[in-house]
Amino acid sequence: MQILDGKLAAQAIKDGLKISATQRVIEGKKAPHLAAILVGNNGASETYVAAKVKACEETGFKSTLIRMEEDFSEYKLLEKIESLNQDPDVDGILVQLPLPKHISDKKVINAIDPGKDVDGFHPVSVGKMVEGIPTFLPATPYGIMLLLEHYKIETKGKHAVVLGRSNIVGRPISILLSGSGNPGNCTVTICHSHTKDLSSICQQGDIIVAAIGIPEFVKVDMIKPGAVVIDVGITRVADPSKKSGFRLRGDVDFDAVSPNCSWITPVPGGVGPMTIAALLKNTFNSCIQKN
Ligand code: GUN
Repeated sequence: MQILDGKLAAQAIKDGLKISATQRVIEGKKAPHLAAILVGNNGASETYVAAKVKACEETGFKSTLIRMEEDFSEYKLLEKIESLNQDPDVDGILVQLPLPKHISDKKVINAIDPGKDVDGFHPVSVGKMVEGIPTFLPATPYGIMLLLEHYKIETKGKHAVVLGRSNIVGRPISILLSGSGNPGNCTVTICHSHTKDLSSICQQGDIIVAAIGIPEFVKVDMIKPGAVVIDVGITRVADPSKKSGFRLRGDVDFDAVSPNCSWITPVPGGVGPMTIAALLKNTFNSCIQKN
């Protein structure tokens, strides 16, 4: 078994972006600028957004973090997005999900200028992705594709089994893996909560992408020996022995599954850092397209 080290691959991408961003500034051009909006006090979201902002700083990008109280109105959030749409200095806008219940994800995502939609969630971005037209790809699936590319994992003709059909991971990664690029050209099966015989479908997978958010759901008897396993899960599980009071668990039973597969992503340090590297790549590309 070999580790798909997302920390290492993400660092290589960030190093490249830092050189390019620094070069832009030396030439008197603006640095790429990401604006992130965080509504409420969801602990996991706070951590993710802080990591995104820190990555911007480390890469020579500008970042603006806009924090809003849990009871902030949907209307005011839409107004804020519109002002960021109009701001010529801002290249990328992301609104961290999930949002409080009184705010519609769909309305918020639709309000972002597709030209600044570095999360790739806007219907225009999704439509282009489905058509294979260059666009901002959603950060987590894009990060997975970059990780497969980094480690030169052969995907052509392989059977990829995706667990989960979310708009953020499951659906888009299915589209990308079945696309005609490299990585790509997979035969893809999407499984979800109504899938029958899940275990036997997983056993047919040369590549497994687990994105369901149930800690250690994927057991060793569900995996074909030698499979490539991508674990997108990152759930906080109570652990009183930790200072934080929790530890992070993926969707895959890593200890049992890892000896049986060819490649596997750890949690943490696998898909998570790649998501951030992909977001930075999108922000950089947005900046060079606009300027
Ligand atoms: N919540 C979980 N993943 C993501 C992501 O990639 N982007 C945003 N904006 N929110 C998320």
